[in-house]
Amino acid sequence: SSKITIGLFGFGVVGEGLYNVINESKIQDAQIKTIVVKDKNKSRSIGKDHFSFDPEDILEDESINLVVELINDAAAAYDIVTTALKRKKNVVSANKKLIAEHLDELIALARENDVSFLYEAAVGGAIPVVRNLEEYYNNDLLTSVEGIVNGTTNYILTQLAAGGTYQETLKTAQELGFAEIDPTLDVDGFDAKFKLTLLLKHAFGVSADYRKIQQIGIRNIKAADAAYAKEKGYKIKLLARAERIEDGVLGYVAPHFITNTNLLYNVNDEFNGIVVEGAFADRQLFYGKGAGSYPTASAVLSDISAIKYAYKYEYKKATDNNLKLSGNFLVKVY
Ligand code: HSE
Repeated sequence: SSKITIGLFGFGVVGEGLYNVINESKIQDAQIKTIVVKDKNKSRSIGKDHFSFDPEDILEDESINLVVELINDAAAAYDIVTTALKRKKNVVSANKKLIAEHLDELIALARENDVSFLYEAAVGGAIPVVRNLEEYYNNDLLTSVEGIVNGTTNYILTQLAAGGTYQETLKTAQELGFAEIDPTLDVDGFDAKFKLTLLLKHAFGVSADYRKIQQIGIRNIKAADAAYAKEKGYKIKLLARAERIEDGVLGYVAPHFITNTNLLYNVNDEFNGIVVEGAFADRQLFYGKGAGSYPTASAVLSDISAIKYAYKYEYKKATDNNLKLSGNFLVKVY
């Protein structure tokens, strides 16, 4: 194992969580040396002297061998991540939008520079789904991946089913730190779509342009829909689905009524669940906390450990493209 010296970008819900988790877990040989944030005036839980405001304080520091990027702004994150990779620093990110937009390019850049680029936290929060798709499954044998991958909408749908109102439960999700800074990303299905793009890549080797994936969010779900579901014993869940079809892979995000035969039926509140189905394996459910400070930070910590112990960890399947995303969009009734 090697010594990890971290430069951290961002001190929001996940960045602060990581700071605490590293301190509390006392993981050996990994320490945060520099934290760069944007806003000089924001009050934070630790003193001003912990922060720097110049990205070069991390990017130019040769003793920093791992950049952890946890900022909200995907465009700024792109500059940080590409610069860090070009300077041969390992990178861990949780930025779903950045990764969905530039996945192939970032993987190639990491490879060219002989460093690791990992993002387990970007989909499913604490659930180790990315590395399991990479390492455990043979993508020729996978038939579908279906998940509840947005904690905010699952929280809202759970509360609606219990008689809560949309606005009030969204507000609670924001207070609990599950929602994106711009919650339309959650409720309109964009966040789930970014995550589906990563699942498509790691499950099937498909490079999908997320803009071509169709999505329906939960904005128009009404109390009457919740009442109908209740009457029938269904639940309404926002599913991100990828399914192998004859000529490729079908992917979409949409709310579904599901019955209790679906393994995702009991995935409630902010929890996420991902069901992976294989030709011989049948179905497996990955279940856990998909949002929130410490659960997300724990996945970042896992990537840090992967880099520490493997020195270089490479996603291999991700470059093994054998299928294409199909333009077909259909909603299966089941
Ligand atoms: N807003 C996201 C969610 C955070 O609710 O799932 C975790 O990616």
